Amino acid sequence: MADLLHIDHVSKSFEQRKGDAHLVLDSIDLTLGEGEFVSLLGASGCGKSTLLRIVAGLEVPSDGVVWLDGHEIVAPGRDRGMVFQQYTLYPWLTAKRNVEFALVDTPKKERPEIAAEYLEVVGLSDFADHFPSQLSGGMQQRVAIARALALRPRVMLMDEPFGALDAQTRGLMQELLLSIWERDRLSVLFVTHDVEESLILSDRVCVLGARPGRVREIVNVDLPRPRVYELRDSAEFITLKHHVHSLIHDEAVKATGLGNVLARGGYS
Ligand SMILES: Nc1ncnc2c1ncn2[C@@H]1O[C@H](COP(=O)(O)OP(=O)(O)OP(=O)(O)O)[C@@H](O)[C@H]1O
Ligand SMILES: [Mg+2]
Repeated sequence: MADLLHIDHVSKSFEQRKGDAHLVLDSIDLTLGEGEFVSLLGASGCGKSTLLRIVAGLEVPSDGVVWLDGHEIVAPGRDRGMVFQQYTLYPWLTAKRNVEFALVDTPKKERPEIAAEYLEVVGLSDFADHFPSQLSGGMQQRVAIARALALRPRVMLMDEPFGALDAQTRGLMQELLLSIWERDRLSVLFVTHDVEESLILSDRVCVLGARPGRVREIVNVDLPRPRVYELRDSAEFITLKHHVHSLIHDEAVKATGLGNVLARGGYS
């Protein structure tokens, strides 16, 4: 599989008030192949969003380079579609207009047709003229996904897009995303802190450790596709889940400094 994206030893520090630098990401090296689905998994604060923002061109790395199709990323571009955790639709525009609004580089007369096509992909044709306030959270995220897909990006960057949804809706959104991914052979870099979600969706899961964010392990998810719900009960899934949970747990203990407390007997 050819590498579409290469996060090439990327580090990021933020200046602190006192003038010293706070290292958030330490030499992250990760590739994403054409048509591949890779998740970034890690505890809160380990730098997942920062890394995604660097790939989006919204943040500049302190060291290292991100390559997309062999070109260095220096700014945002429509070759990358972003979906965020927070709902980011314009409240004064209908679903359809929200999608059209993103298509600034597309001739005006072609925009309605493209918007309609992608609203259909996410199953919202009947809600094209609704305003965000008239849509549920899950529906708003479907519009946001349609908006990102409508740009026909080289890569989809998704930052905990289902984080604010209830468990049922979240499961359905995962199914929807997988069906679109299989249909369009999307390349996806997906941020989550949900172990099951990362395993159900991904070809590989990049587990990040915290303080500073480092690649702890890249786990191959060799589970059959299409991924059906029952897969969660299979022995392979449970083995992978335990493995990833133990990696995350060790990192969380380190990050919270709770090691001594837990070693004393936890709840007692
Ligand atoms: N613009 C900024 N200026 C200073 N520090 C920042 C900035 N953006 C992020 N940070 C710091 O970088 C660290 C990583 O933040 P980031 O939001 O990337 O984590 P995350 O893994 O996405 O966490 P979460 O799971 O809670 O979303 C945090 O300590 C945060 O305070
Ligand atoms: Mg985040």
